[in-house]
Amino acid sequence: MRKKFFIYGFLLFLVVAAIYHYSESGRGFLLLIIIPILLIIGVYNTIQTKHAILRNFPVLGYFRYLFEMIAPEIQQYFIERSTDGKPFSRNQRSLVYQRAKNIDSSSPFGTQLNLNHDSYEGIKHSIFPAKVNEELPRVLVGGKDCKQPYLASLLNISAMSFGSLSENAVRALNIGAQKGKFYQNTGEGGLTEFHLAGGGDVTWQIGTGYFGCRDANGNFDGEKFKEKALLPNVKMIEIKLSQGAKPGHGGVLPASKNTEQIAKIRGVQPHTTILSPPSHSAFSDAKGLVHFVARLRDLSEGKPIGFKLCIGSTKEFEDICHEMISEDCFPDFITIDGAEGGTGAAPLEFADGVGMPFEPALIFVNKTLISLNIRDKMRVIGSGKIISGYSILHAVALGADMCNSARGFMFSLGCIQALRCHNNECPTGVATQNKMLMKGLVVTDKSDRVYHFHKNTLHSANELLAAAGKTRFSDVDINIFMRGDEFTNLSELYFPDNLTSVTKR
Ligand SMILES: Cc1cc2nc3c(=O)[nH]c(=O)nc-3n(C[C@H](O)[C@H](O)[C@H](O)COP(=O)(O)O)c2cc1C
Repeated sequence: MRKKFFIYGFLLFLVVAAIYHYSESGRGFLLLIIIPILLIIGVYNTIQTKHAILRNFPVLGYFRYLFEMIAPEIQQYFIERSTDGKPFSRNQRSLVYQRAKNIDSSSPFGTQLNLNHDSYEGIKHSIFPAKVNEELPRVLVGGKDCKQPYLASLLNISAMSFGSLSENAVRALNIGAQKGKFYQNTGEGGLTEFHLAGGGDVTWQIGTGYFGCRDANGNFDGEKFKEKALLPNVKMIEIKLSQGAKPGHGGVLPASKNTEQIAKIRGVQPHTTILSPPSHSAFSDAKGLVHFVARLRDLSEGKPIGFKLCIGSTKEFEDICHEMISEDCFPDFITIDGAEGGTGAAPLEFADGVGMPFEPALIFVNKTLISLNIRDKMRVIGSGKIISGYSILHAVALGADMCNSARGFMFSLGCIQALRCHNNECPTGVATQNKMLMKGLVVTDKSDRVYHFHKNTLHSANELLAAAGKTRFSDVDINIFMRGDEFTNLSELYFPDNLTSVTKR
């Protein structure tokens, strides 16, 4: 191929030179500039040793890079059908956009899905539907040791750090949360001024990096924690053990997103990749975790304390439950994140192949807590692709008391699923620290969309609840769902027998 490049390149140059020489209008002039430039690039590529494709195809090889660069856009704009698109289909994204814009979100002509299928899942509606509740559902969080219980919305913003999200995105989410009276989880990147600027309720997440409450060595600092935990906007505190997209891996803030501003907030070196370690230094076993819960509750003067995890080893979760019982100390909430959860950046192996998916995880946790007689001691929050009224009802039926959504709220901010969260090039200004891109996200407009998405989605959940003949979410259980595989009871599908063997101590 290289030989051909030299032969054809030289011939082309001669042809263009001849045209230029013999044409009176000088029409070959431009080509006479372009061809030598391409020849120089081509010669350079035949010598360079880094890119095999360019060594072999010195000029045409660039087309590969061009097409690879625009492949996601081509896929989304020209190839993707309404029910395609990953992780979220076009239909799912459109639903969020319409609800966020507060415009008609009904769909025409009937379903585009194949319902006569084994994996079909639907709600068993009642012949006698209930009246739709116009009030949006709320849930009280706070167990026996909690001194400042919090009346939370059924749907809230899941953990996403300032760092993975832009300043404007964090601000818009917070203002939206304030308007709709729901909370914004800070993510493990720390509580920043942008989480407080809009006056919205906040759940402060403490990850293994202890950002905002760490000492010079990166260990947990109780005094620094207390300062922030006592702020009135901080309604709950969540200890992050793991998240579904990368359980056991820890957090990643790519160097390109680690600006001076973020580094200052987190107390780290700017422009370096920041890894939150996979495990906590404040505790290393079930007992330590339970004691840490008690310590944070104490330091925060009794605010609701919980922890978030993606289920891996079921035995480890059971051990934590046993430890809670023996210490008589319970978290006020546990957040269960499905393995299909989102992230700003994660290794593909972790995103694709580690952790338990949302549905079995929630069923497992719910059944375990019930079998140990401690289900009423805490709230269970579920997160994993919750973007519609249906997914909320589904989560509640599997055992969640409340739900968090991350990517749903990102869509409400204008995210187009460009899959660029990890390289600072998010074109919508949602998941980037590039100031120019961030400017595209107008806080006042997007905060309204956040507010409307939350309100309209919960209203849809209320409508589905009524269709099932129920008036309270606490009356919903797994039996309101049917599945295509001969309408098998969901609870029997997973852990059919081993859960009954959860030992009671
Ligand atoms: C951009 C982005 C950043 C995230 N950052 C965090 C984080 O800091 N801490 C955490 O526990 N989870 C984080 N998550 C996970 C979400 O909180 C949530 O658990 C997960 O995405 C599942 O919810 P979803 O399907 O609604 O997105 C992040 C997710 C996204 C998309």
